[in-house]
Amino acid sequence: MIGKDIDWAIKLLKEGQLVGIPTETVYGLAGNALDESAVTRIFQVKNRPTFDPLIVHTDSLAKVHDFVLDIPEKAYILAKHFWAGALTLLLPKKNIIPDLVTSGSPLVAVRIPNHALTLEVLGRLDFPLAAPSANPFGYISPTTAQHVEAQLGNKIPYTLDGGSCQLGLESTIVGFEHEQAVIYRKGGISIESIEAVIGKVEVKAHSSSNPQAPGMLKSHYAPRIPLVLGAIDKLIKEYAGREIGILSFQKYFDNVPIHQQFILSEKGDLGEAAKNLFAAMRTLDQMDIEVILADLLPEQDLGRAINDRLRRAAAKS
Ligand code: TXA
Ligand code: MG
Repeated sequence: MIGKDIDWAIKLLKEGQLVGIPTETVYGLAGNALDESAVTRIFQVKNRPTFDPLIVHTDSLAKVHDFVLDIPEKAYILAKHFWAGALTLLLPKKNIIPDLVTSGSPLVAVRIPNHALTLEVLGRLDFPLAAPSANPFGYISPTTAQHVEAQLGNKIPYTLDGGSCQLGLESTIVGFEHEQAVIYRKGGISIESIEAVIGKVEVKAHSSSNPQAPGMLKSHYAPRIPLVLGAIDKLIKEYAGREIGILSFQKYFDNVPIHQQFILSEKGDLGEAAKNLFAAMRTLDQMDIEVILADLLPEQDLGRAINDRLRRAAAKS
């Protein structure tokens, strides 16, 4: 069931049940992060391997101290600057966080999401919420309550409807190695804006076998229908005779039915493109087509994270 009943969502969460929650990045599948049986259920509902750890959500920096041992200086500066927002920090965990949440790692991923409904829910709970993106493991992340219901609605009692996600891309994951910040997943806060605050950072988000971020498997965020990346006009010739769908940054193409074409941002705005990306991928994936042809965006700001998702989607094909 979908609705805007915050009291109901809170009641279910207090009972140890799972609720779909809105955030500014993507919808989350939330449960009590301190309750092992709720956390176990999250893995089951998503069909997610337990080696892929969960992000813990809370609503204030003061509460973060309840479940982490220490906040390194650079982490603190980033938290002050970007929370509430699309930034996840890897910090040393206290024992109160079950090992199941972190897949046995001594580090816990923490984020304060920026969405009024979810901040109110978190503010009224006396426990943090573990919440992965609310999609079946490996599939495209949901950016509306309807997306959550379509795939997980029969397994969870409620999804809190907070409209479509403002950002549309998952959070940027930042950890620390010898006091240096390292980006493990490109996301809704760009590398450029992080570097503007703490200086040069290392990026380790490119590998498919990165032990720091086991969830970053190469074929993540993938539609069922094969997605091919390249110059779309050339690809259209190559795939002549096939039913084609198009996912283009800025423009429409001849010789492909217009309703099978999705433009991320006609005016070339990266924020608008990010917001439209997952919904467009999802809609194309439900069409009666054989292949999705897509082009990459400029490799800058949010374009980096969008390209990362497009490459992962293409890696499956
Ligand atoms: O924007 C987001 O981050 C969304 C919303 C709901 O907050 N959540 C999200 O969660 O994208 P999920 O589970 O789909 O991706 C979280 C990723 C994991 O796949 C894993 O790679 C990384 O975060 N992660 C979580 N805990 C970690 C840990 N302790 N150490 C290393 N990586 C971790
Ligand atoms: Mg996910």
